[in-house]
Amino acid sequence: MTTIFLIGFMGAGKTTVGKLLAHSTQKRHLDLDVEIEKKVGQPISQIFSEQGELSFRKIEHESLKKSMDQNAIVSTGGGIVLSASNRALLQEFSSEVIYLKTDPTVFIERLKRDTKNVRPLVTDKSVEEISAIYLPREVLYESCANFTVNTSLYSPKEVVREILAYLNKKEQML
Ligand code: S3P
Repeated sequence: MTTIFLIGFMGAGKTTVGKLLAHSTQKRHLDLDVEIEKKVGQPISQIFSEQGELSFRKIEHESLKKSMDQNAIVSTGGGIVLSASNRALLQEFSSEVIYLKTDPTVFIERLKRDTKNVRPLVTDKSVEEISAIYLPREVLYESCANFTVNTSLYSPKEVVREILAYLNKKEQML
């Protein structure tokens, strides 16, 4: 039973790739942001504005813990790697952690175009401010990942193909 976690910055394509990968592997897809919204009964933006980021992070941690043994494809929120206890969970549990790496110019463009998802941390922020959120996270994404795909270069289907090739190769080596 392997749970596969997709990590990466906002706009990396974690949800889109997660759904496609779940379809290809016939596993369940879990989106941690959706799980949090269901649990609290509020959209992420409202949780941030009414309860604050710290409270959101606590709920996020609980949702991550709950997802560990689900044998699912889990699309995480971009800030999952901020907490040392989340990083420990991702690294210690027998799971695959796949980093969807995206160039800042690409995710900034995607975030501008995405009017559906309200992301409180980047709303009304300048390119410099968004980059300042991303930069310290980059090393954390890298340190948690078993495998990295650059999603700036590929379509979601191609990203899934890369991930499947990695998983198949790994299985053959076991
Ligand atoms: C966040 C990313 C969001 C969501 C929340 C905080 C972050 O998820 O969890 O707004 O800190 O990067 P996506 O990465 O799915 O946009």
